[in-house]
Amino acid sequence: MAEGIKITTIGGGSSYTPELIEGFINRYEELPVSELWLVDIEAGKEKLDIVGNLARRMIQKAGLPIEVHLTLDRQKALKDADFVTTQFRVGLLEARSKDERIPLKHAVIGQETNGPGGLFKGLRTIPVILDIVRDMKEYCPDAWLINFTNPAGMVTEAILRYTDFRKVIGLCNVPIGIEMGVARLLDVDHDRIRIDFAGLNHMVYGLDVYLDGVSVKDRVIELLSAEDTSSFVKNIDGQAFEQGFIRALGALTCPYHQFYYKTDEMLAHDLKNYEAGTTRAEVVKKLESELFERYKDPDLAIKPPQLAERGGAHYSDAAVRLITSIYTDKKDIQPVNTINNGAISGIPDDSAVEISSLITKDGPKPLVLGDLPVAAQGLVMQIKSFERIGAEAAVTGNYDTALLAMTINPLVPSDKVAKVILDEMLEAHQEHLPQFFSKVES
Ligand code: G6P
Repeated sequence: MAEGIKITTIGGGSSYTPELIEGFINRYEELPVSELWLVDIEAGKEKLDIVGNLARRMIQKAGLPIEVHLTLDRQKALKDADFVTTQFRVGLLEARSKDERIPLKHAVIGQETNGPGGLFKGLRTIPVILDIVRDMKEYCPDAWLINFTNPAGMVTEAILRYTDFRKVIGLCNVPIGIEMGVARLLDVDHDRIRIDFAGLNHMVYGLDVYLDGVSVKDRVIELLSAEDTSSFVKNIDGQAFEQGFIRALGALTCPYHQFYYKTDEMLAHDLKNYEAGTTRAEVVKKLESELFERYKDPDLAIKPPQLAERGGAHYSDAAVRLITSIYTDKKDIQPVNTINNGAISGIPDDSAVEISSLITKDGPKPLVLGDLPVAAQGLVMQIKSFERIGAEAAVTGNYDTALLAMTINPLVPSDKVAKVILDEMLEAHQEHLPQFFSKVES
C-alpha cells in the first residue's frame, strides 16, 4: 500500500462520523490517512455538510494533513480507495421506527437488528451493500470493506454467499464494549484484557477472558453474574440475569442476549416505551437533532461528549484499530465478523461468524475456538439459519422465503403472527424494497 491512505466512508453524514475522525486523529502516526471521502445520498446532504465541516475543524485543530472530501458521487469517492467503511441506514430513522413499532403492535419484540426489525433492516440494506461491492470491484478492487451497517452479521453473510468479494469484514462495537466493561469491573486498563469471542453478530459469547494473558474467566463470570451487562451498550435497557444461569452457561453473554433469555421482560419493558411513543428510534431522533445542533457550532472542534449516549460508542476504536492492524500487519487479536472456515464447530465453513481473529495484512485469521457451550449451540445455529434465509429473501425478493425467515426467528411466536407482521412491514417499507415489488410481469 502506498504512503498516504485513502479512506471512503459511505453514510458519511451519519452522526457517528466524529467518532471515526477522532479515531483517525488519535492513530495518525501508525495510520497516515491522507484523504477521507465522506459520501452520502441527496437526502443526507445537509447532514453531510454539517458533519464534514466539523470533521475539517477537528482535523485542523489536530494540525494533521488529512484532506476531507464531501460528495454524493459514490463511484468517484471509491476510486482507488484503500479502505471503505459503511455506516448507512436505508430509509433513515423513520424506517427504524417502523421496524420497532410494527412488531410491538403485535406483541413481538421490536428491535433494529433482532426479530422482525432485524429481518427488514437486512431486506432493505443487503441490495444496497451488494451494489456497493459491485462498485468496489470496479473502482477499488484491492480495498478492504469494513462494514458497520446493520444487521452486520446478515450483511456479511450476504456478501460471502452472493458475491466472490472476500475483502469484507463486518464490525460491531459490542465486543469492544464488553472488553471495556470487563476492564472496568476488574479495575484495570482495557489493553490488559483479552476475550475469546465466538458466535454471531449480536449473538456472541465470551468463551474465555484473560488478564495479562492469564485466564480470569471464573472470577469475571462471578462478577458478571451479578451485573446488568446490557449496560455495556447505551441502546439496551435490561436487567441482570439469574446468577445460576450465567454460572451454569460458563460463558460471557452479550447485551443482545437479553432479547432471547429474557424475552417476556424485554417485551413488557419495550411495550411500555411503545405506548409512551418512545421506542429507541424516537430517543435517537431526539439525540441526533441535538447532536447536529452542536455539530453546527463553528467553535466546536472535538467529538462532543453527548455522542457517548449512542449505542455505537467506541465504534471508532474498533474500526480504526482494525484498519491500523491490517495496514501495519500487526497480527494482534480482535473480534470481527468474517468467514468461519472451521473456526467454530457446527457452523458452515462458508458462513459469517463473529470471532476473535488474528489481524494481518491479508485480513482476519479466525482463532480456531472449536465448540460453543452446548447450551448456546442451538440458538446460535437457529440465528445463523435466520441470517442465511433472510439474506436469501433480500437477494431474491421472494415472499415465501421472507415468511420462512420471519417464522423461524426465535422472537416470533408463530407462522400466523409472522405473516401478519411481514405483510404490514412489507407495505410500510415498500419504497425501500424494490426487489419485492417491481417484478416484471411474465
Ligand atoms: C449497539 C450496536 C450497534 C447499533 C447501536 C445502536 O452498539 O452494536 O450495532 O447500531 O447499538 O445504537 P443507537 O444509539 O442507534 O440506538
